[in-house]
Amino acid sequence: MDSDAIRAKWDARYRSSHSSAEGIAAVLIDNTPLLPTEGKALDLASGLGANALYLAGQGLEVHAWDISPVAIDRLNRRAQQQGLTLHTQVRDCLARPPEPGSFDVIVVSRFLERELCPAITVALKPGGLLFYQTYTRAKQGGSGPGNPHFLLEAGELPRLFSELEVAFYREGEEALFVGRKVE
Ligand SMILES: C[S@@+](CC[C@H](N)C(=O)[O-])C[C@H]1O[C@@H](n2cnc3c(N)ncnc32)[C@H](O)[C@@H]1O
Repeated sequence: MDSDAIRAKWDARYRSSHSSAEGIAAVLIDNTPLLPTEGKALDLASGLGANALYLAGQGLEVHAWDISPVAIDRLNRRAQQQGLTLHTQVRDCLARPPEPGSFDVIVVSRFLERELCPAITVALKPGGLLFYQTYTRAKQGGSGPGNPHFLLEAGELPRLFSELEVAFYREGEEALFVGRKVE
């Protein structure tokens, strides 16, 4: 699928679903004590931005990027309602990955594009943290992609981010990974 088709698919989903109940990723909630108290964070492929809003509530300067203008528009409205400041961008993260050494924290949830993983590692500042959570092949139906290409193999996240020091890892129907860029 090309990027226009991907954008159209997600725009249609975000237009037809009025729910904003999508949750904060467990990898963030369970590892909140690891978060720095200040710094620059990115919610990559943010969707409606539950993770971005959570990070902003923790006092971080938060950037949220998604290919879907409908998602970003809804996120802007939610941020305004909650009195939180976010730096949002409609951005194809495959075509325009984050710049090297630009973030203290990067969060990716329920999104898997393996070719982007090296750029995510490079985009962390020294000492920076990656919080990643997405579905695995152990997933039993329910939500998440049906196409196995978008599901993680056993132990795959630590392999994709082998340059990071593992701070947390748990694997089941989803894999939860926190990795630190060694200074
Ligand atoms: C399953 S949703 C996950 C959204 C959010 N991270 C969450 O956990 O609820 C996947 C998101 O990836 C976005 N997306 C897909 N391809 C993208 C790309 N190339 N660049 C940026 N965002 C993309 C979609 O618009 C969608 O919002």
